[in-house]
Amino acid sequence: MTPLKIVAFAGASNLPFWVGQERGLFQREGVEPSLEITPNSVEMAKALYDGRYDLALTSVDNIVAYSKICTHVGCPVALYEQTTHHILCPCHQSTFDAARGATVLFGPATRPLPQLPLMVNTEGFLVAASDYQEPVGPSYWERS
Ligand code: FES
Repeated sequence: MTPLKIVAFAGASNLPFWVGQERGLFQREGVEPSLEITPNSVEMAKALYDGRYDLALTSVDNIVAYSKICTHVGCPVALYEQTTHHILCPCHQSTFDAARGATVLFGPATRPLPQLPLMVNTEGFLVAASDYQEPVGPSYWERS
């Protein structure tokens, strides 16, 4: 059996480990995994760099970043309703659903707020994984 040292956060990020173990994946592949829980992402990254672990399981849950520029005519969407997860534009009351990709729920906006892809970098910081995948700003602007 080949040892495989895994580090993960407590909670849902280590679910793939338990599923793999439950279904016999490691046994079938001749791997003997061990799982340790990390106190934070910085410690996890350091441990990986130091070679103390072979694999890290992590996830970015419940953190999203959307453009603040309304897709209607460009006002700053700045009103967030915590209970409903709605983002409101004060200019013409377009309402976006932050829990569902900032889709338009109400108002004159015709497309969702563009979402910025996120990731945790090797130093444990939450950063943009890339630029926006679609144009930011009002829909009436010409786009190439
Ligand atoms: S600019 Fe946001 S609804 Fe018009």
